Amino acid sequence: MTLKTNAAIDARRIAATPRGIGIGFPIYAERALNAELWDVEGRRYIDFGSGIAVLNTGHRHPRVVEAIRAQLDRFTHTAYQVVPYESVVSLAERLNRLTPGTHAKKTAFFTTGAEAVENAIKIARAATRRPGVIALGGGFHGRTFMGMALTGKVVPYKTGFGPFPGSIFHVPAPIALHGVSVDDSLRAIEQLFKADIEPEQVAAIILEPVQGEGGFYAAPPEFMRALRRICDRHGILLIADEIQTGFGRTGKWFAMDHYDVVPDLMTMAKSLAGGTPLSAVCGRAEIMDAPAPGGLGGTYAANALAIASAHAVLDVIEEEKLCERAQQLGDRLKARLEALRAKVPQICDVRGLGAMVAVEFAGADGAPDPAFTKEVQTRARDAGLLLLTCGVHANVVRFLFPLTIEDAVLEEGLDILAAALQA
Ligand SMILES: Cc1ncc(COP(=O)(O)O)c(C=O)c1O
Repeated sequence: MTLKTNAAIDARRIAATPRGIGIGFPIYAERALNAELWDVEGRRYIDFGSGIAVLNTGHRHPRVVEAIRAQLDRFTHTAYQVVPYESVVSLAERLNRLTPGTHAKKTAFFTTGAEAVENAIKIARAATRRPGVIALGGGFHGRTFMGMALTGKVVPYKTGFGPFPGSIFHVPAPIALHGVSVDDSLRAIEQLFKADIEPEQVAAIILEPVQGEGGFYAAPPEFMRALRRICDRHGILLIADEIQTGFGRTGKWFAMDHYDVVPDLMTMAKSLAGGTPLSAVCGRAEIMDAPAPGGLGGTYAANALAIASAHAVLDVIEEEKLCERAQQLGDRLKARLEALRAKVPQICDVRGLGAMVAVEFAGADGAPDPAFTKEVQTRARDAGLLLLTCGVHANVVRFLFPLTIEDAVLEEGLDILAAALQA
């Protein structure tokens, strides 16, 4: 029998799988529960990453496990497009009600976040009969070709993979911390309309209300309002990519609930389905109906197990009041980080909407400090805490612990974090 050690499996991984699939931590998961994870060597970790924002309801929430188990006993797959099932219709009805705006909506299900983004663009182009799409620098929208084209970060996502689909344009994201104002971003859009594409040829503007991979920067409300005005003036659709921000993370069901702006289309994935692959595009009914029958779908789209899981996730968020809990957890975390500022001069910013909190690091000269960020992540990992980084300069630690995390586990994790920051 081969010994199951992290090092032994990692050696096999390197031989058997390509390096392009980068690994955050070479520890191999054995089991997990809520905010804790154990590796094959029996070592316990506190998981502040939640499988990249997928587990707002924690690892193996009993309600989610039970829903999947019950569905397993009925059927796993029919291909929804061949033989449909009612749970998809009822999940669409729930999402149509939960998402921002009181207008008539429809929802289509897919498998991955990138697929939701692809389909949102397909739908926007079919509805407007225009090709252009505007996205933001630093934004992340996935690893498929349209996802890559929309993503505003070259290394590592786009390196070596071009050419990308045409008619995609980027403007700088308004991030005051990095010297880009709302006016700068809006001027860049106006310039785009002069230099690159007339607004009448633009189908959509897509943005994450809070950039995820890009560094947890929330779009300023006046920027969101200005985008809505530009869209309305020119018949452009506003797409909110809520794949990382959705399902309670920001203290409300969706990050767009923090704005007095309603998007025309919204993409969702990740915490929608508690660890099973499911994504969705929800939007104005008449826009969603633009593609002809057969134009949308996929063999695994609306997988029965994932749909069952998503229903349970929505129940848990409602019943356990996870939006309120996200706000409380985020406030606690921000207070801890703010208190550490005096002792950790590398902390240049603490920010967050609800529990979507991040801490950013810079050196004495004010330049981004990715080396310190990596050090903090490594020290935390060695002490049993899994942290994710993000940011165009890889100088941000982002917090994505389950919103169901037990108070004691959170405190234990925060103590490890504090020690890692001050070591
Ligand atoms: C905002 C956003 N959009 C799209 C994606 C792509 O999702 P997936 O990795 O499921 O394809 C991600 C993934 O991190 C994301 O954060």
